[in-house]
Amino acid sequence: MSLRNDSSTLTLSDDELRDGLVTLRDCLRWAASEFHLAGLFHGHGTDSPWDEAVALTLGALHLPWNVDPAVLDARLLPMERSRIVALVRERVTTRRPLPYLLGEAFFAGFPFDVDERVLIPRSPIAELVEHGFAAWFPEEPPARVLDLCTGSGCIGIAAALHLPTCEVDLGDISEEALAVARQNISRHDLGERVRAVHSDLFAGLPGRYDLIVSNPPYVDARDLATMPAEFRHEPALALGAGADGLDIVRRILREARDHLTERGVLIVEVGNSDRHLEAAFPEVPFLWLEFERGGQGVFALTADELDAHAASFA
Ligand SMILES: C[S@@+](CC[C@H](N)C(=O)[O-])C[C@H]1O[C@@H](n2cnc3c(N)ncnc32)[C@H](O)[C@@H]1O
Repeated sequence: MSLRNDSSTLTLSDDELRDGLVTLRDCLRWAASEFHLAGLFHGHGTDSPWDEAVALTLGALHLPWNVDPAVLDARLLPMERSRIVALVRERVTTRRPLPYLLGEAFFAGFPFDVDERVLIPRSPIAELVEHGFAAWFPEEPPARVLDLCTGSGCIGIAAALHLPTCEVDLGDISEEALAVARQNISRHDLGERVRAVHSDLFAGLPGRYDLIVSNPPYVDARDLATMPAEFRHEPALALGAGADGLDIVRRILREARDHLTERGVLIVEVGNSDRHLEAAFPEVPFLWLEFERGGQGVFALTADELDAHAASFA
C-alpha cells in the first residue's frame, strides 16, 4: 500500500474549498501544497512554493509583506477566500507568473505596475540602484541617467527615487511597454524628472548621459528553447536576442560611447550570456559586478574603457 497522495485538491468545487479554508494560515498552507504539487517555476519575485504562497495570499488581501504574524489566525470573508482560490487556480493551470496576476511587482523597494506588456522586474541591478551607483559616483551623483530597454521603467524610476537630483530618460522600442512605464512615472509622481521615449536603442535619444544602465534582451537561443512555461507569458521582444543572446548588447557596446559624458559609465546586464561576451571580446576588461542578494552577468565599462576598445566594438 502506498501512502503517497499526489492528487490536487483543485479538483474540489469552489464551495468545498471555501468551506475548508477558514483562516489566512489555512489558505497559505493550502496554496503552498498546491504549488509544490504542481511543480511551478519560482523566479519572478519569489523562490519557493512557500514564498509564493505568502506573496499570493498577502497580495490578494492587500496586506504588506511585513504584516504582524498575528493576522495569520484571522478568519477570512467568503469573498476573500474566493479570491485566493481563484488566484491559486489560475497560477497553477495557466502558469502565469504571480506579479501578472496581481498587477504589481516590487523593485529596489518600490512597487511597480506590471502586466504582460512588460518583463517582470527582477534584475540584480536593483542593488546598485539602492546604493545610488555610489561606486562610480562617490561625490557628485549622475546628473543625467538613461535606462535603456526600460520595460516597466523599474530601473530608471527607482534610480530617480534614490537619486533625487537626477533627470532620467526611459527608452524602449515597444510602445506597449512605454505605456506601462508612463503609468509607473505617474504612480511615483516623477513627471518632472523622468520621461519615457520611444527609441530603437539610442536612435531617438539626443544628448549625453553620465550613466547608461540597461537590462536588455540577452537570452541565447538555447536557453530560450528550454525556459519554463512561466516565461512564455513575458514579451518575446524582452527576452531573446539571437543565437548567442548578444545581438542587442553588441549594438549597445558599439554606440554607447557617443551618448556618454567624459565621466560616464555604462552598466549592462547580460545574464548567462556573459560567457559568450567574454569569448567574443577577450581583450576587453569587463568589470563583472558582485551582488549581496545573488545574481550575476552584469558588467560595467567607463567611457575611457569604451574609447580604448572602440576598435573591438566597431
Ligand atoms: C529584458 S526587458 C527589460 C525590462 C526592464 N529594464 C527590467 O529590467 O525589468 C528588455 C526590454 O528591451 C526592449 N527592447 C528590445 N529591443 C529593443 C531595442 N532595439 N531598442 C530599445 N528597446 C528594446 C523590450 O521591449 C523590453 O522592454
